[in-house]
Amino acid sequence: VAGGGLSIVVLGASGDLAKKKTFPAIFNLYKQGFLPNELQIIGYARSNMTNEDLYKKIRGYLKPGRTDPMKKPEDVINQFLNKITYLHGDYNADEGFITLNEEVSKFEQEKCGEDRRTRRLFYLALPPSVYPVVSQWIRKHCMNTRGWTRVVVEKPFGKDLDSAEALSSQLGALFSEEQLYRIDHYLGKELVQNLLVMRFSNRFFVPIWNRDNIASVQIVFKEDFGTEGRGGYFDEYGIIRDIIQNHLVQVLCLVTMEKPVSLHPEHVRDEKVKVLRCVEPIRDEDVVIGQYEGYKDDPTVRKNTTTPTFASIALRINNERWDGVPFIIKAGKALDSRKAEVRVQFKDAPGDIFKCKKQGRNEFVMRLQPNEAMYMKLTMKEPGLEMKATQSELDMSYSLRYQDVVIPEAYERLILDTIRGDQQHFVRRDELKVAWEIFTPLLHRIDAGKLPLVSYKQGSRGPTEANDLITRLGYVRTDGY
Ligand code: BG6
Repeated sequence: VAGGGLSIVVLGASGDLAKKKTFPAIFNLYKQGFLPNELQIIGYARSNMTNEDLYKKIRGYLKPGRTDPMKKPEDVINQFLNKITYLHGDYNADEGFITLNEEVSKFEQEKCGEDRRTRRLFYLALPPSVYPVVSQWIRKHCMNTRGWTRVVVEKPFGKDLDSAEALSSQLGALFSEEQLYRIDHYLGKELVQNLLVMRFSNRFFVPIWNRDNIASVQIVFKEDFGTEGRGGYFDEYGIIRDIIQNHLVQVLCLVTMEKPVSLHPEHVRDEKVKVLRCVEPIRDEDVVIGQYEGYKDDPTVRKNTTTPTFASIALRINNERWDGVPFIIKAGKALDSRKAEVRVQFKDAPGDIFKCKKQGRNEFVMRLQPNEAMYMKLTMKEPGLEMKATQSELDMSYSLRYQDVVIPEAYERLILDTIRGDQQHFVRRDELKVAWEIFTPLLHRIDAGKLPLVSYKQGSRGPTEANDLITRLGYVRTDGY
C-alpha cells in the first residue's frame, strides 16, 4: 500500500482477539509485502508487560506459510515482531493516550520527516463497553493532522436497537462515518465476497434468482463446540446476537439485494439497507430456539440461564423479487459439525415425465467453510441401460480448482481494506440500525421468556423442531442433508 508512514495501534493487545486474529492478520499482510517500510505497530493494553512478553504471547499464532524463499521463516517473524512496541496504560484515564500519541508522533517525525503524509489506524480489540471512553481519548489526543485517522471496531454493537443506537451516537459524535470501520469478519470471507460476483455476472443465475424459481433459501452456521471459555460473554448475548443479527444477516443481504449501481461502497450498502427494510416482522411460529444439554455446566454462565445457543428463524422479504420465499437462518453451537453454507433450493421443473420428483430438487449450495465450495445438485440420467433419473452434482471445490491459491483470512483482507480506505465490506450505521430493528422485538420476547426453549444434545443436528420448521416451510430434503 503506497502513501507515507503507517502506524497501527492495537488496543486490547493482550486479549484473545488481538492474539488470535488481529496480529496474525497484520503479520500476513506484512509478510506478503502489503505494508509500507515506514511501519510502526503499537500494542496497547492495561497489563504491565514488556515487548518480549507480548512477543511471547503472539509468536505462536504467526504462521510464516510460503514466504520469500530467500528468507528464513523465523527471520520474517522476528522482523515483524521488531516492528511492534508495547505500551501499557489505562482506558479510563487519558495519560496513556498522551504517551501513545507521543510515540506515534515520534515515529512519524523520524520516519516521515515534516512533509510526508502519515496514516493512523486504531484497532479496538476491546469490549464495546470501553469504546466510548477510549474513542474519546483518541479523538482528544491522537488524531492525525498530516493524513488520515481510522478506527476499527468490532461487534457486539449493542444488545438491541436502543443500546446500539446509543453507541452509534456516541461514536458518531467523535468520528465521521468515513473514519469508522465496523468489522463483520464474515464480509471478509472468500465465498461471501464471491456472492455478488456469482449472482450478478452469470447469465445462469441472473434471470432465475427470484420467487418464480426459488422455493426457499437456508443460511446455516454450525459449530461443533460450545462456549469454550467464552461463556461469560456468550451468556449475555446468545446465538441471535452473536451470529445471526450480524454475520448471517450480512450474508442474507448479499443473497437477496438488488444489483448495485456500481461497486462503490455506498452503492453496495444502499442496496443492502434497502432489502433489509423489506424484511417483515418476525412471527413466533417461524422461530425455534434451543439450548444444548450441559450448557449450564459451564461455570461462567448464569445458573438458570435461558440464553439460546441455537436458533432457526424464517425471515420473509416483502418485495417484488422475494415475496413468498422463506429465508431460513439457522445458527447453533455444540452441533454435529462446523460448517457455514447458503443453500438455495429451486422449485420443481414443471411436467415431471421422468418421475424424478422423489430424487429431490435442484439446489445451489455455497459452502463458506470449511473446504470452500460451490456445488449444484441436479437431476441426471443414471449411467447405464435403464432410463432412470438420479441426483448428481456439479462441483466447484476450491481445493481442486485452486490448488495453488492460499485463501486469505477474513481479517487480513478487512485490515487491508481499512488501510486502503475501502468501506464496501464494512457495516454502515444505517445498516446496523435496520438489522437491529428486525431482531429487537423478537429478542425482547425471548428475553422475557415468551418463547419455548427446547433442549438438544451436544453433537446432534440440533432440535428436531427446527427440522419440522423447514419441512413446514416447504423445504424438500435432498441426499446428504
Ligand atoms: C464470532 C462469534 O463472531 O464468530 C463466535 O462471536 C463464533 O461465537 C465466530 O465462534 C465464528 O467465526 P468463524 O469465522 O470461525 O465462522
